[in-house]
Amino acid sequence: MSGPSLKKQDAHSSIHEASLNEAKELNELFRLCLQKKQKEKAFQVAEVLVEHWESRTLKHAEAEEEGLYIEMVKENPALHHLIIQLTRDHDLMRRIVEKLKVQLSNNDINEWMLILMDSLVVIDSIHNEDEMNKLLKNTNDTN
Ligand SMILES: [Fe+2]
Ligand SMILES: [Fe+2]
Repeated sequence: MSGPSLKKQDAHSSIHEASLNEAKELNELFRLCLQKKQKEKAFQVAEVLVEHWESRTLKHAEAEEEGLYIEMVKENPALHHLIIQLTRDHDLMRRIVEKLKVQLSNNDINEWMLILMDSLVVIDSIHNEDEMNKLLKNTNDTN
């Protein structure tokens, strides 16, 4: 989604919700596989989950950094500090996804991966709240 659309709070929030809900479902699936000791299936779910984060949330993050964030800070330089914080959230999510990929490439399917997956959901939900409540709080009526 391009810059102008990401400025619309409702549309932007729907993108967040759809991705996050899917991620939560994948986490639950992975959790079940671990409980049932289905390592092969857990591996496949984790592969889908990594692909999900890369193609959805991390792509969305890249689009924000290249468009929306630059535009917002140009309009209101006081947002600079917030943009740094939001970009750090993106970086944390990128780093965690990389850690999951290392686990996968070592065929290390375990509880630690679940902790990483749950961390992604926690960071992303806090991040999304901040984008809505701090970054886009005044944009709804005017854009
Ligand atoms: Fe973001
Ligand atoms: Fe966003």
